[in-house]
Amino acid sequence: MKIEIAKKTLGESAVFVLPVFSDKQSSPAELKKILENRKKNGDFKAKSGETMLIVPDDENLPEKILLIGFGDSKKIKPEKVRNLAAKMIKSVKKFEKGIIDLWLPAGLNKFGKEMGEGIELANYNPAKYVTGKSKEKHAKAEIKTVHLRPEKSDKQLLENVLSGVVLADVVNYARDLVNGPNNFVNAETLSREAVKVAKECGAKLTVLNKKQLEKLGMGALVGVNLGSEREARLVVMEYKPKGVSKKEKPVLLVGKGITFDSGGYNLKPTQAIVNMKEDMAGAAAVFGTFKLLKKMGIKKHVIGITPLTDNLIGSKAQKVNDIVTTFSGKTVEITNTDAEGRLVLADAIAYGIKQYNPGLVIDIATLTGACMIALGDRYAGLLGNNQKLIDGLIKAGEDTDELVWHLPIHPDYRKKMKGTIADLVNSEGSGLAGASKGAAFIQEFVGKTPWAHLDIGGMAFVKDPKPYDHKDATGFGVRLFMEYLSR
Ligand code: BES
Ligand code: MN
Ligand code: ZN
Repeated sequence: MKIEIAKKTLGESAVFVLPVFSDKQSSPAELKKILENRKKNGDFKAKSGETMLIVPDDENLPEKILLIGFGDSKKIKPEKVRNLAAKMIKSVKKFEKGIIDLWLPAGLNKFGKEMGEGIELANYNPAKYVTGKSKEKHAKAEIKTVHLRPEKSDKQLLENVLSGVVLADVVNYARDLVNGPNNFVNAETLSREAVKVAKECGAKLTVLNKKQLEKLGMGALVGVNLGSEREARLVVMEYKPKGVSKKEKPVLLVGKGITFDSGGYNLKPTQAIVNMKEDMAGAAAVFGTFKLLKKMGIKKHVIGITPLTDNLIGSKAQKVNDIVTTFSGKTVEITNTDAEGRLVLADAIAYGIKQYNPGLVIDIATLTGACMIALGDRYAGLLGNNQKLIDGLIKAGEDTDELVWHLPIHPDYRKKMKGTIADLVNSEGSGLAGASKGAAFIQEFVGKTPWAHLDIGGMAFVKDPKPYDHKDATGFGVRLFMEYLSR
């Protein structure tokens, strides 16, 4: 989407979008009367989210004017701006004009970034694999250009709107990856994608193939991969911009990249297997974050690691009771082949810590259905061993509305993950505190490094989207990580 300051006169625009506060009048002079009348008649009260379409039939005015209520200007919050911006874009997309004029009342100047995010997130086109007439229709609905008309121009404003659009554009990229089915998005295609991502941010890229993973002793990752024709990959990206001190320890981000989770021999039933293409959403969030590091001028040393494989069945696939030796040396009895995320993360995290000695680790994973049951689709689970890191992520979550909720890891849950014939089990089978026990398992591979685990099982792929989201992939994590890293 292109964003520019409007140059043409008002009458030339086909669709004019006018955000209206309930307590403050602001509009271009030409529309003042119309707005006043609407408010006076009580037809339009500018309540938050209220919309009204006006077709003025006047050559000097735009063809269509969409009023959108922003409610009380004193109660405006970043999240509200994202949501309302999204609502207005979703309404306007129906007109299929592709270009809009957007009025920005001075009361919104502080929220340029959120405005940009809201409009670009709402503008997402999920119909990537649709053809013919329907494809055209979707393409037509997309907004191509937004002409901004700020009431009070300030230099920062356009920049802020643009930064929101750039951020959201990458969230949309992550959505595409997560919505992409396994025959398009798999270990092979994603490791090719990583080449582009690394190039974009100037990161050093290493892609370890199956042979190398075996040689390194990543028995957990290789074990999950056994049922798949496609070989596993471990993508490692290192972003180190100029000016970062040698002494500064890197941030390590690890994203679960199960490109399809059938459950393995603990095969998922129909309702649970559907949409398991989403199980690489953690990896998508890491890819997205790396796309933005340079663009957003992040001055930190950041490592991104994504273990990539399907979790399938077949005569070679891992069986229940198999025992694998992880990169760390610890052995794990596979008590449930469907608890595969923690296995691939165990190797990726242990490798990252050994190789890079990070100051902190954050992993992001569609790890458990239990977390989704507990927190639904508005909070990701957040677990970890370091309060400062947890507090930082909670704050970043509030600022981006990618909300996270701290869940506990009781020492007894860690004990539950101990094995009898091997060091650990990957599932203890009780069905209790599933999100915590998943994290407890991962914690065995973290050691003393400050670590946080984001369980996005309920967030990555949704039926009931927020206003700026769409059904299916949300791109969760990109905005959260960028907010956290930009502190
Ligand atoms: N990928 C799933 C978790 C999941 C479920 C993500 C629903 C998104 C939506 C994960 O690999 C899994 O299967 N977890 C098991 C763990 C159990 C076997 C200990 C689960 O949640 O049932
Ligand atoms: Mn699974
Ligand atoms: Zn999984």
